[in-house]
Amino acid sequence: MTGRVQGKVALVTGAASGMGAAAIAVLAEEGASVIAGDVDKAKLDGVVAELTSEGLAVTAIELDVADPEGWASAVRVAEETYGPLSILVNNAGIYRTPGVEETDQAVWDQVVGVNQSGVFYGMRAVIPSIRRAGGGSIINIASIHGIVGTEVGTAYHASKGAVRSMTKQAACQYGPENIRVNSVDPGIIETAIVADLRSQGGAIDELAQFIPLKRFGSAREIAKGVLFLASDDSSFMTGADLVVDGGMIAIQ
Ligand SMILES: NC(=O)c1ccc[n+]([C@@H]2O[C@H](COP(=O)([O-])OP(=O)(O)OC[C@H]3O[C@@H](n4cnc5c(N)ncnc54)[C@H](O)[C@@H]3O)[C@@H](O)[C@H]2O)c1
Repeated sequence: MTGRVQGKVALVTGAASGMGAAAIAVLAEEGASVIAGDVDKAKLDGVVAELTSEGLAVTAIELDVADPEGWASAVRVAEETYGPLSILVNNAGIYRTPGVEETDQAVWDQVVGVNQSGVFYGMRAVIPSIRRAGGGSIINIASIHGIVGTEVGTAYHASKGAVRSMTKQAACQYGPENIRVNSVDPGIIETAIVADLRSQGGAIDELAQFIPLKRFGSAREIAKGVLFLASDDSSFMTGADLVVDGGMIAIQ
């Protein structure tokens, strides 16, 4: 541990699994006090218990990012527990496969509600707290699917493109207040999302051959990117995309 976010207060969504769980561990190991939110509170409690048993400052809260009122209470709990927030990681997200004609209203509303509206509600609720902290860093987890297309996942692609675009807008609006806003665009990362696609019989593993590094990433490799953007090491970065994909979209 080198204390790269020592003394800062962070809120991470979707923290019960995958990249969110890795992000709360890495941020806490590097000195942050962390509020960990997830819609699956029982699972989150288990993840957080392990970290607190190692002496790390992490508090679990139930948070559905698609519920604006939930955000108000999350910020209140964060400030009462640790003080004003200076790091927000909008990580919670869901993937659904249907393409354009196959996407029904319920799938569209669900994916856009969590992935896109959730990021908007999060930034809107947390920015006043970051202002009280005197500035900070917001990291929105988008995806390479917000940059390039695939044959499926219309609502997912749409929502992730929106996250990248909102990130740049917010960066322009809040730069003068020293609030930096960047996105991380993961490639294929070994988490529950990928495990689900594998269990549905998808030929996901064949995609590794198209990645220059010839493998999928780990949740911790994404968390290291989050740490960089959360810390002062990225002090002149805002409105940027950090693509962490093993070179997947660099190859022709
Ligand atoms: N795994 C990949 O290959 C990949 C690639 C690119 C981007 N991403 C993005 O990375 C982020 C994290 O994904 P992951 O792979 O770690 O997924 P994951 O399924 O392992 O974890 C997602 C977590 O979010 C939580 N969640 C779902 N809906 C929520 C809601 N409404 N409110 C709060 N929490 C909610 C889930 O309970 C779960 O704990 C997502 O935004 C995802 O779209 C994933």
